[in-house]
Amino acid sequence: MKWPANRITNTSKKSFGMFEKALAIEAAGHDLIHLEFGKPHHDTPQHIKDGAIAALQAGKVHYSDLRGEPALRAALAAKLAADNAIHVGPEGILVTNGLTHAAYLAFMAALDEGDEVILLDPYYPQHINKIELAGGVPVIAPLDRAHGFAIRADWIEHKITARTRMIVLVNPSNPTGRVYTRAELEAVAELAIQHDLLVLTDEVYEHVLYDGAHISIASLPGMAERTLSLFAFTKAYAMDGWRLGYIAAQPAMIPAMLKIAMNDVTHVNTFIQYGALAAVTAEQDSRDAMVADDRRKRDFVVQRMNQMPGVTCASPEATIYAFANIEGTGKDSTSIALDLLEKAHVVVEDGSFYGVGGRGHIRICFGSEPMPRIEQAMDRLSTYFNALPNAGDKA
Ligand SMILES: Cc1ncc(COP(=O)(O)O)c(C=O)c1O
Repeated sequence: MKWPANRITNTSKKSFGMFEKALAIEAAGHDLIHLEFGKPHHDTPQHIKDGAIAALQAGKVHYSDLRGEPALRAALAAKLAADNAIHVGPEGILVTNGLTHAAYLAFMAALDEGDEVILLDPYYPQHINKIELAGGVPVIAPLDRAHGFAIRADWIEHKITARTRMIVLVNPSNPTGRVYTRAELEAVAELAIQHDLLVLTDEVYEHVLYDGAHISIASLPGMAERTLSLFAFTKAYAMDGWRLGYIAAQPAMIPAMLKIAMNDVTHVNTFIQYGALAAVTAEQDSRDAMVADDRRKRDFVVQRMNQMPGVTCASPEATIYAFANIEGTGKDSTSIALDLLEKAHVVVEDGSFYGVGGRGHIRICFGSEPMPRIEQAMDRLSTYFNALPNAGDKA
């Protein structure tokens, strides 16, 4: 008897990062501050909960339109046109169980065995397993570390072969916190058009934005027909446990992904979708207040990290992550992350978890805890970095 299938064991990303290691230390009774996970600490705003509760009470307990409730898709079509300059209408939208499910459907629908998919390093690791489960081959193109993890189209082009099918963008980027400029996106668009490639863009952090403007690559000329734009309510609305996202694509591309969705989940829970409807149609004050709180924590973390010996930390333009460079300590990021876990009892992610380009960095999620806890974490980190040998006074 053979168990399981090769496509399960042949995936290369088997680690859950620092979380698994943290569990063992926590089980020994230590108070760990968890800054490794992208789990928003805010509660979902009340009007969103009310939307789902009202739908449940009103009997929205039966099968949904498989693509998502028509009212929700209509609201999302309006949002996409207004916020993203994406004009696909309700027929070009598929509601999914979070961005994870959206990405799974997109990779499964797009890839044939052996198709190559280019990811920009540092990348979001969870995309790798999905590419491999779909039979694809991840190909890594570096971002320009020396210039704020900028996109280098010539470095991407270098990786394009006859088997390349798709480029994956995460914009704003996890883990770097970058928001790509129009010029960077235009360079990717030019490559995609020239080599006739698909672009899958993960825009889960579109609204967790502090500086600059978020541009959806699908809005650039010639890109609508080749872009799968993925969004979710997860981060900006603090709805990670709701599992709600959506794909925007040309209407002709939706049936292939729907075929997979209707065979794996049938559709997203009907009444849950009314929470999303409330989120997208109401005033955005509560979302803005959460982003403002994250901005305060970003500023605080960046300021404190830059005071620590051996550490430099660029200010992320978006997301809930600071990606701090620790090369000045003379230690590698894996041993720093392990030390911080074991000695400082602060859990951060080792930058090399996100690829070779992330080496020498640690990713600190400032969105996963309230400010007093973040202050405590920064005090612990400061004590650790100041105690390292050769830690000169930075001030
Ligand atoms: C870049 C990126 N994509 C996708 C996800 C997962 O989103 P969801 O919970 O909506 O599946 C995350 C969560 O951390 C993320 O950072």
